[in-house]
Amino acid sequence: MKSLLSLLIKGKKLRHPWPTRLLHWSYAPAVLAGILSGFYITRPSRVHGFTNMDSARKTHFIAQYVLISSYLARVYYAYSAKNYREIIPDLKDIVRMPEFLKYQLFLTSKKPKFPKYNPGQKIVYTSFALLIPVQIVTGLGLYVTKRFQKPATLAGGLNPLRKLHYLASVSISALAAGHIYFALTDSLKKLKSIFTGYK
Ligand code: HEM
Ligand code: HEM
Repeated sequence: MKSLLSLLIKGKKLRHPWPTRLLHWSYAPAVLAGILSGFYITRPSRVHGFTNMDSARKTHFIAQYVLISSYLARVYYAYSAKNYREIIPDLKDIVRMPEFLKYQLFLTSKKPKFPKYNPGQKIVYTSFALLIPVQIVTGLGLYVTKRFQKPATLAGGLNPLRKLHYLASVSISALAAGHIYFALTDSLKKLKSIFTGYK
């Protein structure tokens, strides 16, 4: 079995180890479900795929737990496997930004090569990593209103806290839309790798 597997994947490079794939397919649906159910809660409409408030709130409730656990697990994995270096932008990314933008803006057909993620991906993934805790803390402040009052106190009340939660949702939605667009249009091999692990 092991030799068959190594034969099948011979010559292919492991791009995403199983923990990152498993966690990607936990937090990604949770974020998408959070966006659809959250915007339904703000302004009920069938466009979001729900027919009543009860199912939207139940979905948001399940998504919040999946998101919290997979986010914490991904942060732990990033720290223990030291792969946060692949995600956080560094000086080299800033220096190579013009080269990256030139290609993205169709000013050159020469595709620049990067160690793993390009500067755009790093910025998007780091923004997710920073915005999701904002979403979790503001969300918990709206959810556990009696025992966890700190976020509401800091925001100046439950209504401003709700607005903060909403603002973070808009930013996460924009990032998710950009990420999905690039994931679907950049390279089929990279798209495959988030399912199979190999490129
Ligand atoms: C990326 C993930 C998430 C997105 C996009 C999102 C989005 C939203 C939006 C747009 C609303 C409606 C705000 C309003 O207009 O009142 C909302 C409500 C809410 N969210 Fe989230 N949220 C997410 C994650 C979370 C998490 C992690 C928690 C809790 C830990 C949470 C708890 C809540 C609660 C309690 C409400 C109020 C629901 C109600 O009134 O029934 N959310 N969310
Ligand atoms: C159907 C929707 C989605 C598709 C098709 C998709 C696809 C992908 C692909 C192909 C990669 C790997 C890119 C590469 O190897 O260069 C990736 C990575 C990633 N995606 Fe998504 N994605 C989706 C939704 C999301 C959402 C909603 C989030 C929001 C948090 C997200 C966050 C990430 C992150 C943080 C990574 C880096 C993974 C790591 O290194 O651990 N994705 N995605």
